[in-house]
Amino acid sequence: MPSFVHDGQDSSLIGAVFSERLASLHAGEPQRGFDRILHQIDATTRISAEEGIALVRLAAQVNATHTLEVGLGYGFSATYLLGALASRQRADAVGHLAIDPYQMTDWNGIGITTANELVAVSPCLSESSFHCIEKRSDIALAGLLMEGRSFDLTFIDGYHRFDDVLVDFTLAAQMCPPGGAIVLHDMWLPGIACVAGFIRSNRADFAEVRTGCENLFAVQRIGGDARNWDHFVPFAMDGTPAT
Ligand SMILES: C[S@@+](CC[C@H](N)C(=O)[O-])C[C@H]1O[C@@H](n2cnc3c(N)ncnc32)[C@H](O)[C@@H]1O
Repeated sequence: MPSFVHDGQDSSLIGAVFSERLASLHAGEPQRGFDRILHQIDATTRISAEEGIALVRLAAQVNATHTLEVGLGYGFSATYLLGALASRQRADAVGHLAIDPYQMTDWNGIGITTANELVAVSPCLSESSFHCIEKRSDIALAGLLMEGRSFDLTFIDGYHRFDDVLVDFTLAAQMCPPGGAIVLHDMWLPGIACVAGFIRSNRADFAEVRTGCENLFAVQRIGGDARNWDHFVPFAMDGTPAT
């Protein structure tokens, strides 16, 4: 199986079509937008190959069939997650849902186009394996919750303000089944580290999962949310684990 090595990460965990697209994305090559034109990309707006492979491993670990991401951008993380789903070889029973209100205005629809092209050529995925909701995450997640949806793995990489990410986590947590996982990106940002600090000390229904990537914060659901209405445990604002 062809693979690429980027930042020392071997992509052979996922299929050739995904590896090849990731090689192109990580190389910063121009990508096709919704208008079918090749556009230059800002190669700094992405997850790293190391983080992508960590997501693929985590998806396998939690047996993910349905994944969700907040913040599609150029589709780096979506490509890794679709690759993880394709390796399950159940085209009828897997799906990746992305949420991004600015996909057309800020990203030329490159994330959607990338994902659509990948599902079209992957025998393990079908047209219904990918969908993007072009709305703000708070609105889209609340809608999905109302529909009774559930996601085995949620990747949060949208608007990076503390309160937005806390809202994203709080809503995603209600759609995370036992054993499912939620991952926050960009732990280098104080706002994200602060959300991680809150989860570590206040959400006993989630246990931290080590990914080996310090820029990711991953947790797995280990129980129900049994907090009282007035529950609050003070937490380290820098995200360090509670003592
Ligand atoms: C850092 S980029 C995501 C990169 C992507 N995960 C990847 O690996 O290619 C952040 C994305 O969040 C989107 N975004 C910004 N505000 C958002 C919101 N309120 N809800 C959902 N997505 C949002 C942006 O349009 C952008 O595509």
